[in-house]
Amino acid sequence: MSFDFPTETIKEGEVKVVVPKLDAYVKKPSDYAPSKAPVFYNPTMELNRDLAVLALQAHQKLLGREVSVCEPLTGCGLRGVRFAVEVEGVHRVFLNDIKPEAARLAGFNAELNGVADCVEVSNEDANLFLSRHAAPRKRFDYVDVDPFGPPVPYLDSAIRALRNGGLLALTATDMAPLCGVHPRACLRKYGGQPLRTEYCHELAVRLLIGCLAMMAAKHAIGVEVLFSHSIDHYVRAYAVVHYGAKVADKSVQQMGYILHCFSCFHRETVSGITSPLKRICPSCGAKLSAAGPLWLGRIADKNFCSLMEREAKQRKLGQEKRILKMLSLVQNEAEAPVTYYRVDKICDKLNLPIPALKNVIDRIRKAGFQAVPTHFNSRGIRTDAAASVVMEVVTKLVA
Ligand SMILES: C[S@@+](CC[C@H](N)C(=O)[O-])C[C@H]1O[C@@H](n2cnc3c(N)ncnc32)[C@H](O)[C@@H]1O
Ligand SMILES: [Zn+2]
Repeated sequence: MSFDFPTETIKEGEVKVVVPKLDAYVKKPSDYAPSKAPVFYNPTMELNRDLAVLALQAHQKLLGREVSVCEPLTGCGLRGVRFAVEVEGVHRVFLNDIKPEAARLAGFNAELNGVADCVEVSNEDANLFLSRHAAPRKRFDYVDVDPFGPPVPYLDSAIRALRNGGLLALTATDMAPLCGVHPRACLRKYGGQPLRTEYCHELAVRLLIGCLAMMAAKHAIGVEVLFSHSIDHYVRAYAVVHYGAKVADKSVQQMGYILHCFSCFHRETVSGITSPLKRICPSCGAKLSAAGPLWLGRIADKNFCSLMEREAKQRKLGQEKRILKMLSLVQNEAEAPVTYYRVDKICDKLNLPIPALKNVIDRIRKAGFQAVPTHFNSRGIRTDAAASVVMEVVTKLVA
């Protein structure tokens, strides 16, 4: 098959696929080649796809049966073809893209990897495609919504296209709204107020999951978050959907706000969407700012992460080192308190040199508190100690 644009063959995971030759689309340094090419392909998302392979395999093993998979925004088909080739127990993969060239290339890549018999490719709007599958016996066990920008326009139809107990994977690359650079856009898209705090990437994950939980609740569907992460220029969340009004109510109960003091690092959570919010910091008397409503529940499940880790160790993934490090950190922080402190930000404020993270963690633990590192930031610490305690520990350490 020939394509009327420059292509090349690349290897990723266990597959070999034809993709647009990105060099041909960079005319000036500011050009973002994946979006300029006639079909979307982004080599830097390999880690995202590696983790998706692991999560889907863990999900399939937990279900203990054959699964159907859908990627409604597939681009060159690399992710979906990897699911068909690399994940055991996948019996059907549905790929879709609004661009005819993308659908054609995805179909070609399925053939190239010998999985054309289990991969079905469509070429229509993702919401139409998902809605055609939003009926009993047509729904999927796994839907991977991986757009360029926010996944919100596809959330409703993706939820409706999932079977009870199905896994939804979401990528959001619009970090400027989610991290509070464009707060109005965040409120408009995700229904929650962001904040430009040092832990804004965690807020981004919680805003994304909050939006998902509220959207699912409208259909009397609850969500259980199994894994989420923030890396490079995007956040990602994996949540299982459970049908039923009661479980949907439980999800809504996990919504709330995070109050933050920009003056003394104090932060606290407030459960419930309709709760009245404190305006004054109980620690220093300054004005409190609020992020939310957002998801205050768990953003990862230890057992699921450990299953993913086991899968990662049995494979030869391109991003293995980074993946194992991330999975270990996410597992370790899965049950730790909401939000984290950043030692560099504290030192900046107190005009102190930055001590080693490990020493700060040890001292906080010695003082009788829980303290763990976080995958969100290499200088971040999740702890149940108050901001004043963390500041005291840091000050004493460098004195
Ligand atoms: C970020 S790319 C997908 C990358 C792919 N998931 C991967 O892992 O390589 C987003 C894709 O969505 C497609 N797209 C954009 N709007 C769409 C819509 N309304 N319906 C279906 N596809 C759409 C674009 O053509 C593009 O190929
Ligand atoms: Zn304060």
